[in-house]
This record gives sequence, structure tokens and C-alpha cells, in this order.
Amino acid sequence: MGLMGFLDRLADVDTFDKAMEPARRAVQSVPSAVKDLLHGTWLGHPVHPVLVQVPVGSWVSAGILDAFPAMRPAATVLIGTGVAASLPAAASGAADWSEQGIGVRRLGAVHAVANTLALGLYVGSLTARAKGRGTLGLVLAYAGLGVAGGSAAIGGHMSYAQSSGASHAATAARALSSDWIDLGPLDDLPEGRPALRTGTGSGVAVPLAAVRRGARVDVFIGACSHLSGPLYEGSVEEVRGHTCLVCPWHDSAFDLENGEPRRGPAANPQEKLEVRMEAGRVMARLPSHNR
Ligand code: FES
Repeated sequence: MGLMGFLDRLADVDTFDKAMEPARRAVQSVPSAVKDLLHGTWLGHPVHPVLVQVPVGSWVSAGILDAFPAMRPAATVLIGTGVAASLPAAASGAADWSEQGIGVRRLGAVHAVANTLALGLYVGSLTARAKGRGTLGLVLAYAGLGVAGGSAAIGGHMSYAQSSGASHAATAARALSSDWIDLGPLDDLPEGRPALRTGTGSGVAVPLAAVRRGARVDVFIGACSHLSGPLYEGSVEEVRGHTCLVCPWHDSAFDLENGEPRRGPAANPQEKLEVRMEAGRVMARLPSHNR
């Protein structure tokens, strides 16, 4: 069995599902403004992959410098930098983890345990170095690097194979035709709430969410960027001073003006279509940057 197959098997193990729930509930009880900061909703991009660059980069660089005895003081500084930077990276990862599907949460728990082990090894390395036990410090640091590398592979699998953090709306948009789509008469759309319309492309139907406010219509890909929730079954609400389309699954709110997330857990924007009217009918098309 290859590494990917092993990780997929791991994501099927339900033995620890109950044990994970208290941790999940604890993270979910954090105020939403703090969680949105950690998700990256304010940035319009998940912030966890940005933050992890610092500990990973610091520890890899320390591993290189540790190979040269004269450079070990600099390696120690980098290890300390990585230890400090791992804390905000872990907090953002925990916020994302708490709002993912069960398969991602299972692998995420393994990822968190491995990262905690790596952190412990690096703290041990710093302690050994401070006490003048340089060889032990080296051994612990290289062990930490090995564990952190394995954990990074799990994190990569969560992102690339399980689509954790990816925009599910962008994936749906890719299947949509680049032609203008006839969404029917304006008068058939309900006022102030989303309605399901369907676009076509690549032989598959792509659900769209159309919101009418008077003569204005905003049209989005119907699958929420967070985890593909049905936005056309959501609601229109004022969120933090913006009129938003709110997902019925986890309450993410997308600005009707531009699709930017105004409340998480979504960190990616929602794909919005161009709209024009033609003889009282609503026509929509995917913008060229999505094609
Ligand atoms: S699917 Fe999670 S907020 Fe929409």
C-alpha cells in the first residue's frame, strides 16, 4: 500500500471519533471574531498554510545549519523561532479542523498529535542546548524534523487529496460553460432570498444561487466555497455591515457585492457570475478569470 492509500485508510478509522469531540466543541466555543481571524476570512484566503511556513522553514533551515558546528548557535535561534511560530499556526489549524468533515478531522487529529510530538522534541532540543548537552540537542532536533516532515505529508494529503482549505466553489465553477446562461425571467425570481438556477457545462448541471433585490440580481456558484453547502437554500442577511448570502450548513456569509467572505468558516470567496438583462430575462456568465 502506498502512502496515499495508508492515509486514506487512516481517515476511515473511527475509534477516536468520540474522544475528538470535546476538543472540537472547545474550539467551536471560541468567539466567532477570533475564529474568523484564525480561518483567514479577513484575508479571503486560508491563513493556516501561510502561518505554517515559519516553523517549517525555520526548522528545515536549522537542520541544515546544525550540520556545521560553527553554525549551531544560529540553528538554535531558528529552532526557537519555529517553536514560537508553531503556536499561532496550530491555533489556525485547530479552527479550520473544527469545521471540516469527519475524514479530514480524523487525519487532522493525527496531524496535531504528530506536530505536538515534533514541538516537544524541539523544546527538548532547546533545553539540552541550554544545558550544554549539544549532541542530545542535535539528536532531538533531527528527530523533531523527521516527525514534522511526516506530519507535513499528512497536512498535504488533507489539502490536496481531501480538499481541506480548497475552494469547492472554484471546483464547481470549472465545470461551468463560459457562455451566457439563460436563468429565466426576472419576475420568476423571489425577492430577497436565494433561488436555485442551473447552469450547464461539460455535460453536467452546475447549481447556481440567484438573489434578486428589485431589478438587481446577483448570481453565484451554488456550492459554498467552504464545503459545497447549498447556498441556494441559504438566506440573505446583514453581516458586519454587508448584505450577504449565508450558507445553511456552517453559517459562512458571502458579500452579495463581490462574494468576499464576511463571516467564516469560509476563507475563500464565493465565485460570482456576471449578470445582464435581456428582454426581461436574467443572463449570467462566468467571469474570464474563472474559466
Ligand atoms: S459548507 Fe460550510 S459554510 Fe457553507
